[in-house]
Amino acid sequence: LKRITVALGKRSYPICVGRGIRTQVAEIVFERVKPSSVALITHPNLAKLYGDDVVREIEKRGITAHVFIVPAGERHKTLTTVHGLYDRMLAAGLDRKSLIVTLGGGVLGDMGGFAAATFLRGIPYVQMPTTLLAQVDASIGGKTGVDLPQGKNLIGAFHQPSAVIIDTETLESLPLRELRSGLAEVIKYGIICDKSLFERLNSDMPLLLYRNSGSLFSAIVRSCEIKAAVVRADETEQGRRAILNFGHTVGHALESVTGYRQYKHGEAISIGMVSASLVGEKLGVCGKDVTSAIQGALRKAYLPVAFPPHVEIEQIIAAMARDKKTVGGEFTFVLAPQIGETILRRGVAADVVRVAIIEQRGIE
Ligand SMILES: NC(=O)c1ccc[n+]([C@@H]2O[C@H](COP(=O)([O-])OP(=O)(O)OC[C@H]3O[C@@H](n4cnc5c(N)ncnc54)[C@H](O)[C@@H]3O)[C@@H](O)[C@H]2O)c1
Ligand SMILES: [Zn+2]
Repeated sequence: LKRITVALGKRSYPICVGRGIRTQVAEIVFERVKPSSVALITHPNLAKLYGDDVVREIEKRGITAHVFIVPAGERHKTLTTVHGLYDRMLAAGLDRKSLIVTLGGGVLGDMGGFAAATFLRGIPYVQMPTTLLAQVDASIGGKTGVDLPQGKNLIGAFHQPSAVIIDTETLESLPLRELRSGLAEVIKYGIICDKSLFERLNSDMPLLLYRNSGSLFSAIVRSCEIKAAVVRADETEQGRRAILNFGHTVGHALESVTGYRQYKHGEAISIGMVSASLVGEKLGVCGKDVTSAIQGALRKAYLPVAFPPHVEIEQIIAAMARDKKTVGGEFTFVLAPQIGETILRRGVAADVVRVAIIEQRGIE
């Protein structure tokens, strides 16, 4: 079992990573919080696969564990689902000393975390992420929220969890496409701040795709260390946390233009990381070697790198302009001068993006 601390003063918490550690959840959590009752929020399939073990461990300690099942999928990440949770929480008699445990991917963690942030003005919660993306990214950092019809994550709150418990065994049931999508974020961590992680991912990629537990464990631990350090330096996303957005400027636009249906998040940012590197080349920030290293790693994970022919460039530019992170019509890009280094470049002109994407359409 590996422990990483997210150091945020009074709001500090551990990230625990280990194979099969869902059975240690009570031990890890109850040394920090003594809840009056627990609400485990999860999806139908995950309740059977892993939730039962969690409930058993909690009830062994004489604490009641309620299980609230919510449907899976981004389309259910809404205030309506959260309202349903509030109703069930009240009916079950949850109070200010109750604890929410979220067992699921980023959708469930964001939504369950938001319920915890807002119920009775905030109760504690523990994240038990079960997708690779949620294990290395969404579960850490305290960003919680839901979507509106007008856009993703428009409603939310910062609410740090009391602990993040990552049972790497849960990845065994994860669909391969979801695993690869998570690997895009892991590759991103290598690109933005750890060249040796990047190199290790390149050589371990076949093992990672076969879900070799040692390779997954070390990739997850290193990713969590990086995310924890970035969150610590910038808890509420004023500055440094922006480096995590490498590949997300174009990636988010692509997800939005394709209605969040065609691409998994990791696939969209895979394409977006290549776009960002080409933008970097056009601005003289990096050489072709950086772009080809990035492409090489993504290809090894069978992630997409070419810009899709059916998506209009002007729609991408318009979606980038609508992004809540865009200020004043000029684009901000996180760029990688080298593998393992980033710079923030403001005021990138739309034409530079156009030229980069046109080139990216030509990639085989
Ligand atoms: N809060 C943050 O900082 C942050 C960061 C990144 C992403 N996010 C959010 O995360 C969400 C995406 O999360 P995601 O990629 O985990 O998708 P997801 O939560 O939709 O999960 C993907 C699918 O995998 C299933 N699943 C989950 N774990 C499983 C397992 N172990 N075995 C079998 N099936 C499993 C889920 O039921 C779902 O159908 C987005 O809503 C995004 O906004 C939040
Ligand atoms: Zn992301």
